[in-house]
Amino acid sequence: MPVIVAPSILAADFSRLGDEIHRVEAAGADWIHCDIMDGHFVDNISFGPEIVRIVRGLTSLPLDVHLMIEHADHYVPRFVEAGANSITVHVEPEAKHDVEKTLKRIRDAGCRAGLTLNPETPFDLIEPFLHKIDILLIMTVHPGFGGQSFRADQMHKMKRARSLDRKLDIEVDGGINAGTAKLSIENGANVLVAGTSIFHSKDYAKAIRQLRGD
Ligand code: DX5
Ligand code: ZN
Repeated sequence: MPVIVAPSILAADFSRLGDEIHRVEAAGADWIHCDIMDGHFVDNISFGPEIVRIVRGLTSLPLDVHLMIEHADHYVPRFVEAGANSITVHVEPEAKHDVEKTLKRIRDAGCRAGLTLNPETPFDLIEPFLHKIDILLIMTVHPGFGGQSFRADQMHKMKRARSLDRKLDIEVDGGINAGTAKLSIENGANVLVAGTSIFHSKDYAKAIRQLRGD
């Protein structure tokens, strides 16, 4: 499967967001990953639909929205309206929503539906939903902050998912750099989310090429 690179703008310089988006687009980014945090499901607050709408106006690349929030079902329509192309929600009970209903809501709105799980959440929780999603996101850090170390102990989840579905987009998020990207791809991932390793590098095109293994 071709490798898709999705820079996470959480690590971008927000004082010149437009320039950052144009630079990663020119550098070969495939999707733009938007990390939404509510200060409840995760211990940090990032940004909401209004910023997603601004990003939508800056690029025609697919916007991949990762909701680390409670009650995602309630907020899905706002992110659809803001221009999301895919919306990924969490499976943990702490996310306080009916996962099946939320996924249906996302798909009914014409978006691709993604489901994700934290490193400490067992894969069994995801398995019943595999045929109801377009993207499976495997978290390789505990969500909330950029710049954390990659957890190689999550590779079995990618392997298992790939063995169950050859066509599913399997995305990996957290601590992705050239080395951990290679390991993730070997274990079945085909979509790489990367914040720090792209936006904190000098040469975005080189960083993206290295993630792809070119
Ligand atoms: C984790 C977020 C990630 C994260 C990626 O809370 O979902 O998207 O910001 O950032 P890096 O690549 O810096 O680990
Ligand atoms: Zn993310």
